[in-house]
Amino acid sequence: MGKILLTGGMGFIGSHTAVELLEGGYDVLIVDDLSNSEASVLDRVETITGKRPGFVQADVADAGKMEKIFSENAIDAVIHFAGFKAVGESVAKPLEYYRNNLDSTLTLLETMKKHDCRTIIFSSSATVYGDNSPAPFAEDAPTGNCTNPYGWTKYMIEQILKGLSLAAPKMFIGILRYFNPIGAHPSGLIGEKPNGIPNNLLPYVTQTAAGIREKLSIFGNDYPTKDGTGVRDFIHVVDLAKGHVATLKYAEKGACGVEIFNLGTGVGYSVLDIVNTFERVNGVKVPHVFAPRRPGDIAECYSNPTRANTILGWKTAKTLDDMCRDAWNWQQKGSRA
Ligand code: UFG
Repeated sequence: MGKILLTGGMGFIGSHTAVELLEGGYDVLIVDDLSNSEASVLDRVETITGKRPGFVQADVADAGKMEKIFSENAIDAVIHFAGFKAVGESVAKPLEYYRNNLDSTLTLLETMKKHDCRTIIFSSSATVYGDNSPAPFAEDAPTGNCTNPYGWTKYMIEQILKGLSLAAPKMFIGILRYFNPIGAHPSGLIGEKPNGIPNNLLPYVTQTAAGIREKLSIFGNDYPTKDGTGVRDFIHVVDLAKGHVATLKYAEKGACGVEIFNLGTGVGYSVLDIVNTFERVNGVKVPHVFAPRRPGDIAECYSNPTRANTILGWKTAKTLDDMCRDAWNWQQKGSRA
């Protein structure tokens, strides 16, 4: 068990991964600039696990601060979550997205190289599959043709990591392509807290059920899907977090080189499935209307998760009911504090 550095560890996926790592006996150090998260997450992670992660408030692109972290701590592995992640915002602010996401990753990798830290797990996204081929997507499906700068940063960082692996073959580089993480920790203490009006479906659904938003707009009901609405591979964030621990354990067995894994359930649910399930399990109403398609959306995006299932021995365990129940529990409890 070693010390694991989590960049962006105060965010939605990072904080859930911190919990799973601490519960698995790892030592966790978080570096986060709190640009899209809150310091109270540390207390909440401690309440859940009984252990407090280390924390440094810094921007990962700050080479001096990263150097200090690596000189003062024996970091065994890095899980790199930090990055700007709003698809729509990336279209309006492309330079900021490329600068931030690429710069921070390069600074991190340079610092790791200097300190001979050989394990990195990177948060990539199913968005790299673009609309090149139909779902389900296996890891060898074509990538590129991303529809926004955010997606391109994920694509470009994957290329940077592949190039690095050729020059540093002893490194383990895990590229995890997330599908649609939703839900929250069952404690209701940590979850997703978007700034302002949510872009993603689940936060919009929970805020609509809570009366914060008047109604949900369902973007498109004329897709070639079972009910005309978009289909996605929604994955419970706790299952997703466990996928990181499984990847770390795989690296610890001596794996090296680049390994790409889809983290998804392999099942596609539609936007209407989400609304109906959310209403049923929580006994609440989600007022909704149909609206035009959102630019850049594809009809169906779901994974073939076989590679992660067989190589990592990891499989999702939570149901769509769990995801909707935990998202609502978080909305009612934790998200307001
Ligand atoms: N949707 C609505 N109304 C809303 C919000 C979303 O109908 O108010 C629909 C979308 O049109 C889509 C589905 O709900 O069909 C899911 O949309 P999200 O915005 O929640 O998620 P995306 O699939 O668009 O994007 C997510 C992540 C990205 C990641 C991508 C990978 O947000 O970071 O999955 O496929 F790149």
